[in-house]
Amino acid sequence: DASDIEKGTYPFYMLKEIDEQPTVMRKLTQEYRDEYGNVNIDNQLVNEVAASDRIYIIACGTSYNAGWAAKSLIESVTQIPVEVQLSSEFGYNMPLLSKKPFFIFLTQSGETADSRQVLVQTNQLGFPSLTITNVAGSTLSREAKYTLLLHAGPEIAVASTKAYTAQIAMLAILTQAVGKLKNSEASLSFDAFHELSIIATGMEAMVDEKDYLSDLVKQYLSTTRNAFYIGRGNDYFVASEAALKLKEISYVQAEGFAAGELKHGTIALIEEGTPVLGIITEEKTGPHTRGNLKEVESRGANTIVIATEDLARPGDQVILPKVHPLLTSLVAVIPTQLIAYYASMQRGYDVDKPRNLAKSVTVE
Ligand code: G6P
Repeated sequence: DASDIEKGTYPFYMLKEIDEQPTVMRKLTQEYRDEYGNVNIDNQLVNEVAASDRIYIIACGTSYNAGWAAKSLIESVTQIPVEVQLSSEFGYNMPLLSKKPFFIFLTQSGETADSRQVLVQTNQLGFPSLTITNVAGSTLSREAKYTLLLHAGPEIAVASTKAYTAQIAMLAILTQAVGKLKNSEASLSFDAFHELSIIATGMEAMVDEKDYLSDLVKQYLSTTRNAFYIGRGNDYFVASEAALKLKEISYVQAEGFAAGELKHGTIALIEEGTPVLGIITEEKTGPHTRGNLKEVESRGANTIVIATEDLARPGDQVILPKVHPLLTSLVAVIPTQLIAYYASMQRGYDVDKPRNLAKSVTVE
């Protein structure tokens, strides 16, 4: 069928989609950068976001993790506070809203029922909304006031990869436009397109590490029943997404933890040989995360460090290229996607069609 052609020589769509991420970063630049290097997004949309006193990002699953990954950049460049909320919680227990909220729905498919029920409510309340989606004409795209398309190409694998990075990149581009309009200090030195081009190159280096990462998985993760990812700040948000990916397709019981929180309970689960993967891209928190890795190591854990080149130490297993400090998730997530991929493949599972999961969930 047509989908076979699309997969080309790849054994699974997921691997193809992981590989496409540098291209998706460049495609977003093509779509949203005008000839003067400015952001080409509907002015009315940019004005409405800039006029809001709080941005609510509403999403499920991997899209929810993408919202967290973008939060600190949006706040720093636009000076607008951002709340990230799960659709399936927010809709039924709506918190006290700010006076001028702006709602952003992150949804790869544009069809997720949990997210749609929130949009129906915010529409009734008369609040402005934007759907960021990969599917033109999708339900949430039609029902929100504004739409921005991810242009990532169809995502077939149930486990989302390129939509996650595309969502963060799209938010970075929107952030630049809003920051510029607000004339914020941080916006003067932030050029999303420049950063995305550095990131695309960095992503290419990471996807070239397939054989190495496959061996790493063989060594540490091929038979384990559980695993932990830890990190702080943005690295914690990547840890959450990394753990979700591992759970979804390899059925390893994985948790993403704020590194400092492990010792307040979960460290009790560490046994001889439990893999603990630490993500370190932040200078100020890196040493603390390393301390946490030492703690679990002394209790028998096998630790694996994924660190940015300038923070890496001898013996670290995965070295990430240096990119904008608030966009490190875009490169840090790549090895974790590949780790999940190989953990699933080496177990002989159908990587693209994990049990019990659907690509888009149209029931609440
Ligand atoms: C399903 C998929 C996930 C996805 C989530 C949200 O559960 O299996 O991969 O992250 O829905 O989907 P959306 O299309 O709204 O981003």
